[in-house]
Amino acid sequence: MRYAIIGLLLSALAAGTALAVYPSQTITFAGGEAGPVAFSGRHHGQPCSRCHNPQAFPRMQQGAEAITMAAIDEGRLCGSCHNGRQAFASKDNCQRCHQSQ
Ligand code: HEC
Ligand code: HEC
Ligand code: HEC
Repeated sequence: MRYAIIGLLLSALAAGTALAVYPSQTITFAGGEAGPVAFSGRHHGQPCSRCHNPQAFPRMQQGAEAITMAAIDEGRLCGSCHNGRQAFASKDNCQRCHQSQ
């Protein structure tokens, strides 16, 4: 498993594509009128396929999947965890994601 992940990272590097969201890295989504959302690798150490699968974020490329608050609140995308069980719920915690709020 470890070697498979290393292989994946190496092939991403070899292809010259964007790097993975490593623990030290953060990608920032614009977040519309609610303000920017920082998605940090530090909080998200789950297996890649937990998020990079056909139901959630199929491509390892920021912006590939349109993320809406409606989808999150229905328990899809970020909301498959941010539902008050696996991680804090989306509904009452706007400012934990939208940091300018
Ligand atoms: C908790 C969910 C989650 C996990 C786990 C996860 N990712 Fe991602 N990753 C995302 C999201 C969300 C995006 C942005 C996708 C989009 O906008 O469609 C992303 C984007 C990326 C990108 C593109 C970054 C950029 O700057 O465009 C790469 C490369 C990537 N992930 C690699 C990985 C690898 C390799 C693993 C496993 C070691 C992994 N991800 C685990 C959620 C996750
Ligand atoms: C595989 C499950 C999973 C997915 C999918 C996921 N998260 Fe998380 N997230 C977590 C866990 C677990 C934590 C840390 C535990 C906690 O505080 O509830 C966390 C923490 C965070 C934090 C840290 C907030 C703080 O106050 O410390 C932010 C911000 C965040 N997630 C945003 C997102 C966004 C944005 C997405 C979708 C692009 C996303 N997460 C998708 C599981 C997930
Ligand atoms: C788990 C993290 C998370 C939480 C909690 C969260 N959001 Fe979001 N929100 C996002 C992400 C990711 C996007 C998409 C950003 C992008 O693509 O630019 C988004 C987008 C939005 C948008 C613009 C797009 C749309 O679909 O309307 C609004 C408005 C918004 N959120 C409001 C809220 C409000 C209000 C709350 C609290 C009730 C909230 N958000 C809680 C992550 C979160």
